Amino acid sequence: MTTQATSTKANPATAKLTLNGKDYDLPVIVGTEGETAVDVRKFRDASGAITYDPGYGNTGACSSAITFIDGDKGILQYRGYPIEELARGASFLEVAYLLIYGKLPNKQEWADFSGQITLHTLIHEDMKKFFEGYPSGAHPMAILAAMVASLSTYYPEDAASFNLNITRLLAKLPTIAAFSYKKSIGQPFVYPRNELSYAGNFLNMMFAVPSATYTVKPEVEKALNLLLILHADHEQNCSTSTVRMVGSSKANLFATIASGISALSGPLHGGANQEVIEMLESIRAAGGDHQKFVAQSKDHGSNVKLMGFGHRVYKNFDPRAKILKEAADDVLKALGVKDPTLDIAKGLEEVALRDDYFVSRKLYPNVDFYSGIIYRALGIPTDMFTVMFAIGRLPGWVAHLKEMRDDTTTRINRPRQIYTGPTKRAFVPLSSR
Ligand code: ACO
Repeated sequence: MTTQATSTKANPATAKLTLNGKDYDLPVIVGTEGETAVDVRKFRDASGAITYDPGYGNTGACSSAITFIDGDKGILQYRGYPIEELARGASFLEVAYLLIYGKLPNKQEWADFSGQITLHTLIHEDMKKFFEGYPSGAHPMAILAAMVASLSTYYPEDAASFNLNITRLLAKLPTIAAFSYKKSIGQPFVYPRNELSYAGNFLNMMFAVPSATYTVKPEVEKALNLLLILHADHEQNCSTSTVRMVGSSKANLFATIASGISALSGPLHGGANQEVIEMLESIRAAGGDHQKFVAQSKDHGSNVKLMGFGHRVYKNFDPRAKILKEAADDVLKALGVKDPTLDIAKGLEEVALRDDYFVSRKLYPNVDFYSGIIYRALGIPTDMFTVMFAIGRLPGWVAHLKEMRDDTTTRINRPRQIYTGPTKRAFVPLSSR
């Protein structure tokens, strides 16, 4: 099979694919940043063959106007705005609005949107009883997924309520997350406070106790805002693709987002931030020999990976990791926190970036490499790290689901396969086996 891209006057861009001696002309699609795709939608009808790409490393599953990534150049833009600029100047809720509705809110839109979010932060009192049923050691990501799926029993969906349910979900996710933490440490729930910012309200629900006054430190609020922005979207990653997959069946918003939360929980995806801290801690406990750990991670037989390193798309650097490395220094300094794992992380990075194994495979620190160190400095416990990621990623998931629903050409997602099992054979009854 050979393929060849050609340009003709009648059809400015087509690709020619030759299979078993026969030529097929396939349309070529070019995005606004020049990304090029060969459109194979009609190829199976014409040839009987499918395209094969396990892990979807080279498959465009949709077109999308939300996030642009150039993995070779380390570029990340939400709706055209560079991540570095949003990280410097925006609030997380503004970014949420931008991702979901496609533009930065003007003052009136901002007042309406943020006001609505504030109004919906409470969860139904009956839902508090759900927390009683989980074992005390339950992972908060499991609780988060289950609670979000349960929201659909309180807020059924129809065409008119979709947007309201988006607001409800954005407002309630931090409340559910903080309640699951309070449950895990046996403290009473702290109700939302409407006068606080999105990040500030979350911190208050996490750390306030009835017996003392808790004031949200501005440095902590600022750092959390930054982390949430950096997590807010990342185009067709595993959890977002899951959201699109489940959403394509027209499952309701809450069921769809619960599936995204479950996908995010895996250690190769959002769960990596927890794994990074656990890795850094284990290196520290073993005497801090990061060189030895790097050597182990290069040995495929050891089953050890340098967690927080590598990315399917970024092959130069992850711009989020660059921002977070600087932020980690600033936050720890501002809070007066001394964390030996920061030095271990920097040492690991230094060794790995000079090592041919990592250089030749284009493995660089990803967003999870430094985020855990900052979360820890903010007082967030390790098993809540991935929950923080989920709160940050929610606007991205919602934006993709909304974009998909708004597109009238969306079909149910249903990949094909190459079957490799037994060919047809006769059933043998149990009595004869
Ligand atoms: N440590 C050591 N070796 C690695 C690492 C790592 N962290 N990541 C990749 N490699 C090696 C692989 O073993 C493979 O080696 P080989 O060519 O000799 O077989 C090569 O680099 C290519 O790696 P793949 O696994 O094929 O890359 P893929 O794109 O499938 O996976 C992934 C990307 C999952 C992120 C991978 O790099 C990884 O497991 N990293 C650690 C987990 C992690 O940090 N995940 C967070 C990702 S970011 C996010 O989801 C927010």
